[in-house]
Amino acid sequence: MTKILAILYDGGKHAEEQPKLLGTTENALGIREWAKEKGFEFVVTSDKEGPNSEFQKHIVDAEILITTPFHPGYLTRDLIEKAKNLKLAVTAGVGSDHIDLEAANEKKITVAEVTGSNVVSVAEHVMMTILLLVRNYNVGHEQAISGEWDVAAVAKNAYDLEGKVVGTLAAGRIGYRVLERLLPFNCKELLYYDYQSLPADAEKKVGARRVEDLKDFLSQCDVVTINAPLHAGTLGLIDKEKISWMKKGAWLVNTARGAICVAEDVAEAVNSGHLAGYGGDVWPKQPSPSDHCWRSMKGPNGASGNGMVPHYSGTTLDAQIRYAEGTKVIIENYLSGKPQKPADVIVENGDYATKAYGDRSKAAS
Ligand code: NAI
Repeated sequence: MTKILAILYDGGKHAEEQPKLLGTTENALGIREWAKEKGFEFVVTSDKEGPNSEFQKHIVDAEILITTPFHPGYLTRDLIEKAKNLKLAVTAGVGSDHIDLEAANEKKITVAEVTGSNVVSVAEHVMMTILLLVRNYNVGHEQAISGEWDVAAVAKNAYDLEGKVVGTLAAGRIGYRVLERLLPFNCKELLYYDYQSLPADAEKKVGARRVEDLKDFLSQCDVVTINAPLHAGTLGLIDKEKISWMKKGAWLVNTARGAICVAEDVAEAVNSGHLAGYGGDVWPKQPSPSDHCWRSMKGPNGASGNGMVPHYSGTTLDAQIRYAEGTKVIIENYLSGKPQKPADVIVENGDYATKAYGDRSKAAS
């Protein structure tokens, strides 16, 4: 009997209140009935840490694993060694860095994700985070709900986005969509830093200029948004040194992966005022501990400087429909022997199917 193991986040009462919360253990991506009809053994759990977890118990004989970046079941080399039956690991969402891809390759496990399923959801979140930091929104909002009224205290750290230099570190599906959304804000300049150029027409459409040197890129931007996958080349990329290349008072937004930034270096830069703010929804380890330094960091001179939320930008209700459907399609393809959509495949037959997640031709698609 085919065994499918799904590691999802718990919805609790929220899943009851909102049946569209498909990404929860309760609503199981909407595929529980389908799995039952097909006669699969379908195990759904949020219990993912430690040797006694349901994840570690069931991974030993699961053929298909479903995980999600929002509550990542970390499929380490160790677990891959134990997963004797595992053939397919599907990421319900985008970003499979919680899986040891090298180890998956060695065992010829296919890793696939629902490419594109939540890229608009994230791009919108990036825009929101840039604006709330630049405009010092949180300080104003806190006043509004606490009964306070001190316009100067908010305004002294509030700016317009118009006239600023904004750059995306990576201009793939999300990065490009951020550039598209930034265009009407009349920024001084839109920049991007990526392995390769955007196609000329895509570059022209958003009026963005590529900067090939990272130092040159970071030092020109008032706002940097990070939209690269996490891999060996981006792990800890934004550290103390790279932050020192950024302008004093710049804002940094990261909705890609927490571990692309060195957490303590970012928090120190915000607390000291070198960065006017940092925001995003991704954390180095998820769920994040309650005492993580990104929870308590605070901007300079009474600025909020903190645009952090739990990892939810790519799991809006709209996105959940798309990644739930995409997950089912990937599993059906596997079961019927149909080839996967090439863009969905991360590793297959012992090799990477994507250039470190970054094939330029996909950018404007
Ligand atoms: P994509 O594959 O379309 O684009 C990735 C881009 O990054 C490519 O253009 C690639 O060339 C570039 N890149 C890779 N390494 C780089 C480096 N070292 N320096 C500069 N550029 C580099 O991926 P997409 O769909 O835009 O997603 C990007 C990442 O966003 C995902 O891998 C995931 O980690 C994250 N993400 C976060 C979500 C959230 O809910 N916060 C949801 C979806 C994705």
